[in-house]
Amino acid sequence: MIVAIDGPAGSGKSTVAKAIAKRCGLTLLDTGAMYRSCALLCVQKGIDVYDPANVDEIVEVSRAAQISFEQREDGQGVFANGQDVTTAIRTHEIDVAVSPVSAIAGVREAMVAQQRKIAENANVVAEGRDIGTVVFPNADVKVFLTADPEARALRRAVQRAGGDAAKDKNATADQASVEEILADLKRRDAYDSGREVAPLKPAEDAVHIDSSLLGVDEVVAKILSLNEELKAMDSTETAPDPAPDPAPEPEVEAKKVEATPKKAPVRAKKAEKNALGPMHAFGGNTFDDYYDHAMCDYPVPAKLFYGLVIGVVGGVTKALWPWKIEDIEKLVVKGEGRVIIMNHVGLLDPMLVIVSCGVRGIAVRPIFKSEFNVNKLTTWFFSRVGGIPVNRGTADMKCIRRARASIDRGENVLVFPEGTRVKSDDEEVTVHGGFALIAQLAKAPVLPMGIVGVRDLRPKGAKIPKFFKRVYAKVGDAITFESLGVKGKKQLVETMEKVAMDKVYELRDFLRAEHPGKM
Ligand code: DC
Repeated sequence: MIVAIDGPAGSGKSTVAKAIAKRCGLTLLDTGAMYRSCALLCVQKGIDVYDPANVDEIVEVSRAAQISFEQREDGQGVFANGQDVTTAIRTHEIDVAVSPVSAIAGVREAMVAQQRKIAENANVVAEGRDIGTVVFPNADVKVFLTADPEARALRRAVQRAGGDAAKDKNATADQASVEEILADLKRRDAYDSGREVAPLKPAEDAVHIDSSLLGVDEVVAKILSLNEELKAMDSTETAPDPAPDPAPEPEVEAKKVEATPKKAPVRAKKAEKNALGPMHAFGGNTFDDYYDHAMCDYPVPAKLFYGLVIGVVGGVTKALWPWKIEDIEKLVVKGEGRVIIMNHVGLLDPMLVIVSCGVRGIAVRPIFKSEFNVNKLTTWFFSRVGGIPVNRGTADMKCIRRARASIDRGENVLVFPEGTRVKSDDEEVTVHGGFALIAQLAKAPVLPMGIVGVRDLRPKGAKIPKFFKRVYAKVGDAITFESLGVKGKKQLVETMEKVAMDKVYELRDFLRAEHPGKM
């Protein structure tokens, strides 16, 4: 049995390969450690690995290098010519020196020969850059593991801060450190992919898995499901199954990461239920339980409370500020997860959407800034009304993951890209593009809405809002990524961000023209 896992730095290869080796009793072959060992031996010999004149000497050192591995309680030990190099190969100096060394054809020949020898008499899970293409082209399982550069950078940043994003799916990190690591990762990706010998590229028959939003167990389960024999080797009885249906979901979903249409909400919901388990009927649920579960799975008391909130808020706001949503039929669509976006002028904005959908049994999950969770009471309230908190100013993958999961289940996610209430047209507004990223990851459309009238309810300095003033909102047509006419992940997100926000402002301006005086 040979399992080949290739992919760029930070895609989670090592963690996933380690987990598979442990669960299935395979020998772990960390080929990156072998190239690192060669680089270290050269550096120790005082060879300048950046000088092309030293290529022959570097190849000689690599040919003579005897590299072996030892399983230990705390991981894998690496030995080069009998010397324990486990920690010495992970320094910054070697991080840098390994690139020119691993790009030399003679070095690769020597290492590939050793790698094949190790696999002669053992079942192995090998991870690297060329395993499926060069080292083991006939591997039983071939995986190309990727992740958004941002997600990979976040993992490394969390690791540097002493955490483990592989174990803690909800980990966050300092934005500046994420950005610095991101730049470095992009440089290394370009180097590994652009070199002449054995560049980083997926084997034609490799299954692509995007680990950006998946935990280790989910990636491992996907890989195990690719091969019956491998699955049978799994010693873990409670292995989570990401594909409850017998349909060949991993291949289909994994290979067409960008092209597949949105997953059927029903299947996603089943998987979600399997992974999370039911909520407690009375008490005992954490705030996270509310953020992570489908609203239809909330316990009965929470549902009753929600119904009460919808009724009271709907009744009171309609009586005090008669509001109307034009083209509401475009909003109240059941079972289709979408990202709803709107300009933000006042507290009434989210209420209109939540009430209109809530009375029709349509779930809307407002993304709210975590600063609103000032105490247990507010946290309790926002969690009961389906809110999902976002830590602004950080790469909040936890929020993005939750929003995406909600959409997969057929719920709507409500985002105010302006971030904060815009009190005047003269204010400089920063549009946050997170909504487009969520939509893209969930392969969902964006539904633009515009609203006017709420700003007039509380003129500057007024303590009490003005009553009996009308508020109008208008719903646009859902915007799909296919309709944007551009290609490439980045261009798609950037174009969606612009097109959708332009639409929001177009709807707002339409309402202003239709109802003169309303802002
Ligand atoms: O996976 P890693 O970061 O430990 O790998 C260290 C370097 O070795 C990396 O810059 C790319 C290179 N490498 C390679 O060229 N081929 C492999 N099969 C594995 C690693």
